[in-house]
Amino acid sequence: MSSPESRRFDAPAMQPIRTLAVTGGKGGVGKTNVSVNLAVALAELGKRTLLLDADLGLANVDVLLGLSPQYTLADLVSGRCSLEQVLIEGPAGLLVVPAASGRRHMAELRPAEHVGLVNVFSDLERDLDVMVVDTAAGITDSVLTFCQAAQDAAIVVCDEPASITDAYALIKVLSRERGVNRVQVIANMVRSQNEGRALYDKLSRVCERFIGDVSLNYLGAVPQCDWLRLAVQRQQAVVRAYPASPSARALSEIARRASRWQAPAAPRGNVEFFVERMIRQGAPA
Ligand SMILES: Nc1ncnc2c1ncn2[C@@H]1O[C@H](COP(=O)(O)OP(=O)(O)OP(=O)(O)O)[C@@H](O)[C@H]1O
Ligand SMILES: [Mg+2]
Repeated sequence: MSSPESRRFDAPAMQPIRTLAVTGGKGGVGKTNVSVNLAVALAELGKRTLLLDADLGLANVDVLLGLSPQYTLADLVSGRCSLEQVLIEGPAGLLVVPAASGRRHMAELRPAEHVGLVNVFSDLERDLDVMVVDTAAGITDSVLTFCQAAQDAAIVVCDEPASITDAYALIKVLSRERGVNRVQVIANMVRSQNEGRALYDKLSRVCERFIGDVSLNYLGAVPQCDWLRLAVQRQQAVVRAYPASPSARALSEIARRASRWQAPAAPRGNVEFFVERMIRQGAPA
């Protein structure tokens, strides 16, 4: 039997949460589609999943999922509502934190405000297994902070020179300025599995040569797929609208792989999502 003392520490028995930021450097490589579909697929696998739209200037997770949010992160930042009120339910029980599009002040938050947004999540009293974070294009402070704050950053890259150089630039800045030493890679819009693997090999070779202290891990490839475009038109996730399509199968497989990752056991000692849960978990009994 536990003592009153240990019961006190046991009380907030919420699990640590696995967090994955989806990023890529270049615009239009498929970050939002990858985020939305991984989150929906994880929810379908029974993982309690939260999808955060962290593209603060040009948010569109809600558009891709056909949701009409009452409140967004902009209302939270201006103190008009709580994080709990911003949450909206998506497909398969997925929880979504939508952001606002076209509010310039959201795209121009100060670095301390980005850290503040990360810390707001510590107050969320929900039992969750995974959080997926869709980030903006570029290597701005918001992108770097959300990637740093997640356990893993998944870089979406496609087979064009600008995507590869932007992915490399982003990995370099994450490694040098934010201490990120592990990066996941997802190849998108590929014409074959071989193309995806070759793309990963190319990126990992330049990172090894010019950055050094960062390890890359290949999560898989998503084919170029007209069904995905059709799903975008219908404002649905392709894994739900056309689950047998090539892109849906690939995204579901990546989600299955990610669902087997272990949640973190201890905080890393810098900006981090849900850090207080980890501290509470590690509290002495
Ligand atoms: N695997 C794919 N097959 C076919 N089309 C795709 C695929 N992935 C993405 N697209 C198309 O590319 C476009 C851009 O995708 P998405 O909005 O997900 O990119 P993004 O990286 O989030 O863009 P931004 O940088 O503007 O946030 C979409 O219109 C989508 O239809
Ligand atoms: Mg996007």
